[in-house]
Amino acid sequence: MENDDIVCNCMQITKGEIIEAIKAGNLKTIEDIGDETEAGTVCGSCHDDIEDIITEVVR
Ligand code: FES
Repeated sequence: MENDDIVCNCMQITKGEIIEAIKAGNLKTIEDIGDETEAGTVCGSCHDDIEDIITEVVR
């Protein structure tokens, strides 16, 4: 997945935006990311992808 790929279709949030939010806010959970970016706050089908990004960035 590239940084400009949309992760959350409901809110049109890209992988890059999620990575930036994680780094800027030291975010650790999907809830944190939802509060910060609104990604994952609608249908929830992107939660697995968001989890993968958290793992990738925090690792
Ligand atoms: S695709 Fe992210 S909440 Fe629906």
